Amino acid sequence: MANIIVLGAQWGDEGKGKIVDLFSERFDLVVRYQGGHNAGHTVYIGETKFVLKLIPSGILRPGVKAVIGNGVVIDPAALMDEIASLEKAGINVHSQLVISNRAHVIFPFHRMVEQVSEARADRVAIGTTKRGIGPCYEDKIGRRGIRMADLVSPQGFEHMYRMLCEDKMTLATAFKVSEQIDFDKILEQYRQFTEKLRPLVCDTAIYVNHAIRDGKNVLFEGAQGTMLDVDHGTYPFVTSSNASAGGACTGSGVAPTRINGIIGVSKAYITRVGAGPFPSEIEGEAGERIRRAGNEFGSVTGRPRRCGWFDVPLLKYTAAINGFDSMIITKLDVLDDLDEIPVCIGYTINGIAVSEMPATNEEVAKIVPVYEILPGWKTLTKGITSLDRIPKKAMDYLKFLEEKTGVEVGCVSNGPERNETIIVPGSSLARLLG
Ligand code: GDP
Ligand code: IMO
Ligand code: MG
Repeated sequence: MANIIVLGAQWGDEGKGKIVDLFSERFDLVVRYQGGHNAGHTVYIGETKFVLKLIPSGILRPGVKAVIGNGVVIDPAALMDEIASLEKAGINVHSQLVISNRAHVIFPFHRMVEQVSEARADRVAIGTTKRGIGPCYEDKIGRRGIRMADLVSPQGFEHMYRMLCEDKMTLATAFKVSEQIDFDKILEQYRQFTEKLRPLVCDTAIYVNHAIRDGKNVLFEGAQGTMLDVDHGTYPFVTSSNASAGGACTGSGVAPTRINGIIGVSKAYITRVGAGPFPSEIEGEAGERIRRAGNEFGSVTGRPRRCGWFDVPLLKYTAAINGFDSMIITKLDVLDDLDEIPVCIGYTINGIAVSEMPATNEEVAKIVPVYEILPGWKTLTKGITSLDRIPKKAMDYLKFLEEKTGVEVGCVSNGPERNETIIVPGSSLARLLG
């Protein structure tokens, strides 16, 4: 067995939650390393649907430790809600959940700052989840943020909080925000959260490193996707953290030398929520059809997801950034009905082939995709549990993606449930899973 990172190879919502839940049976710890409750990871266990936002999907497996790492930003109110709904479902959250003392805390005024920023007339809105994620990371990088260790400290918290409030009041005045913020009420509310959260807070970097030293296996669960990574994604239409593999190390305090495998999760097509360029986006009825078939509506905000065809250059780019050992193709069943399936195999800009992902949005927006059309298989793949029963044309499609991207397909998902997954025998992924 091994320590592996499972992360999004596209723009998020690739089906990471389902995969992490399935794999976590074989791991001792599941660690979230970045993002916050902007993530929505859907897991079906029979008829029961769970949407995990902050808490790692491993929590659904009794005995597995779910670790919220230092790279995550935590809204304590959202966390308390999530804990309560999991407890209602019979999960013993308090015996499984561990929270980093170095994770930063989101306050209600972070959401206000985000609203101001998104509404500015001189800026294109990013289409964020409005959860205060970006402004909290701004405070972290600006070295004025408040961390879980501060929040649970009986002495230091109020002073740090008042200083941060002063900062936000200056901002509110500058941007002529008329809404009144009751800073004292927030302080009182956060003090109440503290009592409940304190027992779960510790130095998770030490905790996870000790577990690794003791021979335990760790799965690092990415949120968002590589194209939403603040450094490597379609900046500025990105989230504010490192969703790519490097983020797993900085966001957990575990060294790269301890990681044995990196797995990219990708849909058999591609989606995006929010604004920003999207080369293989499908316009009109064809896009609607995929959205309906795949039920492509955001699990956090309910927004319709924009749909597109599988994008080979994008996958090659995210494979290079992350060093994928293997990729998992999810939602193959969503394509079951199609007569033919275009795959974007190259990019041109102004008629010239482009081999690298452009850095600016202006350039990405100019991309004209080159498509190769593959035949559909027009047979249900849902419910098939072994590769040899997958229709030949669907296997050809998977082989095509593998050959064009240069990344092994180690697993195929053909439905939202745990048993609707086929791990490819003999693949690197199968070996990593032991
Ligand atoms: P995540 O954010 O990457 O965890 O993905 P989301 O949970 O936001 O979105 C993926 C959606 O697809 C969820 O509703 C899953 O239940 C669903 N899903 C995952 N894998 C499959 C699959 O192979 N087929 C189908 N039809 N649905 C899937
Ligand atoms: P999971 O983990 C898809 C998108 C938002 C917006 C941009 C910035 O479920 O895959 P933010 O609120 O993070 O500042 O918004 O990022 N976004 C996601 N899109 N899946 C997610 O998470 C996302 N989290 C953020 O729509 O475009
Ligand atoms: Mg999601």
